[in-house]
Amino acid sequence: MTFVPYDRPVRAAIIGLGRIYDLNVRAYTGNPDVEVVALVDPSEERRAQRQADWPAARAFASATALAESGIQVDAVEVLLPAPLHADGVIEILGYGWHVNMQKPMCNDLSEAQRMLDAAKAHGRILRVMENYLFYEPLRKLKAAAESGEIGDVCGYHMKMTGTGPGGWEVPWSSFEWQLEQMRRGRGILVFDDGWHKLATALWLFGPVREVRAWIGNTALGPGVDIDAPATIVWEHDNGVRGVWDITLAMDMYLRSDYYTNDERWEITGSKGYARVNRCTARGIQQPSLEVYADGVMRGYHALDDDWASSFRDSGRHWLRWLRTGDGPLSWSGEEAVGVLRFALAAYASSAAGGTGVNPAQLS
Ligand SMILES: NC(=O)c1ccc[n+]([C@@H]2O[C@H](COP(=O)([O-])OP(=O)(O)OC[C@H]3O[C@@H](n4cnc5c(N)ncnc54)[C@H](O)[C@@H]3O)[C@@H](O)[C@H]2O)c1
Repeated sequence: MTFVPYDRPVRAAIIGLGRIYDLNVRAYTGNPDVEVVALVDPSEERRAQRQADWPAARAFASATALAESGIQVDAVEVLLPAPLHADGVIEILGYGWHVNMQKPMCNDLSEAQRMLDAAKAHGRILRVMENYLFYEPLRKLKAAAESGEIGDVCGYHMKMTGTGPGGWEVPWSSFEWQLEQMRRGRGILVFDDGWHKLATALWLFGPVREVRAWIGNTALGPGVDIDAPATIVWEHDNGVRGVWDITLAMDMYLRSDYYTNDERWEITGSKGYARVNRCTARGIQQPSLEVYADGVMRGYHALDDDWASSFRDSGRHWLRWLRTGDGPLSWSGEEAVGVLRFALAAYASSAAGGTGVNPAQLS
């Protein structure tokens, strides 16, 4: 489709004013590219709380009520619970609004196709935001791999430990829809948070041709099943192999301003390695990026390694893109389907006992 950039600030609505609003809003605050004209959430408490940030915006209990109000909206920040993504986004595109939505895009390929079709039918842009692609230590990790300073890439490893105490408050209502997702076989570690990990692998090394997975389960209580331990192994088209191990350690305290999650990314090259030591939480207290080559370790001590900054920069990128059209837009709906395919290939492999599955061949 042909996209015509706006020659004035984008008129935006934020739909879903829950926990992650606190970080997504950083792209909007003080940004001359945007004017927040509306806020939407069925919770009166949330509307009242967020209205304080945007006194000039009108607040509504539903997207339908906003559409009927006649307020002019160009683009929407969709921060809905994941189970509402497919139908919610299709409704919003139908009102003629561009969409910047949170991950996971949706739960299966038919939902994804319906969403892409809706964007096309209404001539609107559907972006699935991937804030990790804007996290400065990960951007520098990619640059280190591409610069040749660690030699040729030989392998890739991600580690993630879901931990218990130490982070911010998460309202019980957020866990309720996560439990619904778990019941549908879309767990909080592999699918919800995992979306970012799979996305970063695709971003670093391109398409994946084979995935093998062993996804376990830990019952924390009646009806509360966490998708760990899990191990996912894959091979990119360029031959690079990746492995991601997921562990649950519920009693581990991990200091965090956000979620408690111990994460690291490591690329091994023929003459060194580059490693991001932490992201969402304050895990390893060393420089957030370390690069080893030729007997010398270099530590990056001055990166903007506050996880929240990745939300700010991802959102600003979107709003700037709407103003200028200068691409590429990172990322499109089609690229998000690639992430979904990667996750679905892991589930298919695990269900089949760990056999190799090509994500491109899933139907
Ligand atoms: N990028 C990341 O790292 C990251 C981190 C956390 C959450 N997320 C994603 O952000 C999204 C929201 O997560 P959250 O943690 O803020 O959830 P949340 O439950 O805290 O907030 C969701 C909000 O949506 C509102 N809502 C429910 N139905 C609605 C409707 N029909 N119309 C408008 N609003 C409605 C709820 O009242 C609530 O305020 C999810 O897709 C989640 O996966 C992404």
